[in-house]
Amino acid sequence: MTLQDRPRALQSQSKTFNQKLPPVLVVKLVLSLINLLAKVRQKVTPPPLTLLEMVGTYTFISHAIMVAARLGIADLLKDGPKSSEELAQAVEAYPESLYRLLRALTNVGVFAQEKDGRFKLTSISKYLQIDTPGSMRSLMVMCSQEWHHESWGHFLTSVKTGKAPSEVLYGMNLFQYFEQNPEAGEIFNSAMTGFSAQSTAAVAATYDFSRVTAIVDVGGGLGTLMATLLKKYPQMNGVLVDRPHVIADARSFLEAEGVAQRCELVSGNFFEVVPSGGDAYILQNIIHDWDDERATAILKSCRRAIAANGKLLLSEMVIPPDNRPYFGTVFDLEMQVLCGSGRERTESEFRALFEAAGFKLTRVIPAPSYSYVIEGVPV
Ligand SMILES: C[S@@+](CC[C@H](N)C(=O)[O-])C[C@H]1O[C@@H](n2cnc3c(N)ncnc32)[C@H](O)[C@@H]1O
Repeated sequence: MTLQDRPRALQSQSKTFNQKLPPVLVVKLVLSLINLLAKVRQKVTPPPLTLLEMVGTYTFISHAIMVAARLGIADLLKDGPKSSEELAQAVEAYPESLYRLLRALTNVGVFAQEKDGRFKLTSISKYLQIDTPGSMRSLMVMCSQEWHHESWGHFLTSVKTGKAPSEVLYGMNLFQYFEQNPEAGEIFNSAMTGFSAQSTAAVAATYDFSRVTAIVDVGGGLGTLMATLLKKYPQMNGVLVDRPHVIADARSFLEAEGVAQRCELVSGNFFEVVPSGGDAYILQNIIHDWDDERATAILKSCRRAIAANGKLLLSEMVIPPDNRPYFGTVFDLEMQVLCGSGRERTESEFRALFEAAGFKLTRVIPAPSYSYVIEGVPV
């Protein structure tokens, strides 16, 4: 994906992701069944092969997906199946290598093949297309960036020291790195828009905002969540707070979404102050970026700003206490690698954070996604 592609990617990632979500109970039942089948599969597979398959699936396949995303293969299949030779010519790839990549990705269901061997899209690779609402292409492109690879290359350091690889590599946290490296920052923000599309849709479907008239989105990024909520709730006005380099892009994003007049944009630092006057403060995928001390500082900023009858809402993954299979437990490693002491948390860890910042946790509401809505009130 080129820098020129990015505005188009942002528009499609939001637009606004209206995928019909199945009820939470159905999602939970299906996931339990899948986990059970995975356990049965593991029982009948020799353990060394299980290890090889795990590394193969998560390392080899992830690299193949990233390369396919960077080459824009899914976009080229928009109008129908194509042979690997046609695709190789279009993206200037070495034909045999591209064929092997596509064959492997077809093997795991990312693409499919016609009887004549031509490759075509599946419901998965549709989300590698730049124009698909909720597209994950930017996220895959982000995972292929040098800073992301370098950070994972220092996972061992992180495990030994507890430090974020970015501290060792660049002497700063990643958000500071993005401020100093605008292109990396743009790619990250664009990726977050895709990553958050699922949780945004889940929050909008799960929580009733009909009584909220003024919402403050703390660390709101480009504004996917804000745009979704403002469109769904005409009574609502918003304030979005983020770092100055993000706010400029948020402005054009919200304008394109047609909600800019109802949203004030504030450049700020959520460790110090967040705007007052909101009856709801929402933080999506924010607290998991930080250790307990800094997470508490952010929540304390919200506590100082929130009205006595206001609601604090987090949209985050919640790790189950019994370590049952849950993607958040695996995703927690990405937080460790990118943010050092950033982490996914259990409900009791969130409860403790809320208490330390002067809030009482009132509800943890499962959403039809990996994320939950965690509600608190000031005490
Ligand atoms: C993981 S992203 C989440 C963005 C958005 N809430 C979403 O769900 O897509 C974290 C956001 O926090 C913002 N951020 C980081 N440090 C900040 C600070 N000190 N003050 C305000 N925003 C900050 C980043 O710029 C980024 O947009």
